[in-house]
Amino acid sequence: MFISKSKMLAMVLCVWIAAPSWAQDANDLVTRLHSMDSDSALKAEAINRGKERSMLCSYCHGKDGNSVKNYIPNLAAQNPEYLLNQFQYFASGERKSYVMEQISKGLTTDEMVDLAIFYASENVKPQANIQSSEAGQARYQSFCFACHGDDGKGNKDLPRLAGQKKAFLMKALKDFKHGKTARANSPMVRIMKAVKESDIEPLADYIATMQ
Ligand code: HEC
Ligand code: HEC
Repeated sequence: MFISKSKMLAMVLCVWIAAPSWAQDANDLVTRLHSMDSDSALKAEAINRGKERSMLCSYCHGKDGNSVKNYIPNLAAQNPEYLLNQFQYFASGERKSYVMEQISKGLTTDEMVDLAIFYASENVKPQANIQSSEAGQARYQSFCFACHGDDGKGNKDLPRLAGQKKAFLMKALKDFKHGKTARANSPMVRIMKAVKESDIEPLADYIATMQ
């Protein structure tokens, strides 16, 4: 089935507008994040504090935010606003993960901001032993690009996908598709209804190898 980019954009917009707007409560924090992020001295201090605070995280997410296991997401180069929001969703139980809920509840809002700025400043390392997929690229560029960007870098609270771990991507996409309760209110649940199970692995191969 061929669907033009413009038609797809219109469909996407419908999903987007109908999606719950979760970020309301986090508005003040996001403002704080952006004012620190745009001041180079404040940003450097936040990175230092965030790096110090990330000791515990490095056991799973790696020292530089490139995770140590394939099923654990990279945090390196992730959009800081997205990271900040996820801490809040974990802490409130909106996004379910036992480990991350406990950890996020133990973070102050200042620490959340510092950690988000720190991880966003690190670089994603390319993954070895994964072949990109042309089928995955075609699917991505006809659909996913509209929110996550042609280059997979996302924007604000739309997550960066480029270079994300393949096993994590596959798990996340399957969980969304099957409406797993972990992120039941995510706009991705509705989006994945339009994606075939057999498209998931090619998509993950393409995304994981995006620079
Ligand atoms: C014991 C391992 C472990 C530790 C320690 C840990 N995490 Fe996680 N983290 C995970 C796993 C597993 C997930 C994926 C959860 C899911 O989606 O089911 C995750 C997800 C996340 C996400 C969401 C990323 C995304 O792309 O959606 C963020 C943000 C995060 N962790 C930040 C942190 C920070 C910051 C720390 C330290 C304060 C930390 N984590 C410590 C295992 C860990
Ligand atoms: C209408 C906008 C939109 C479209 C189109 C879209 N996404 Fe998303 N996606 C989002 C949002 C918003 C999130 C963050 C959701 C959340 O916090 O649960 C997200 C999250 C994700 C995540 C989880 C990332 C992480 O680090 O935890 C993956 C993987 C993902 N999308 C893949 C895709 C793929 C593959 C496609 C195309 C088949 C796609 N998305 C299309 C808006 C979109």
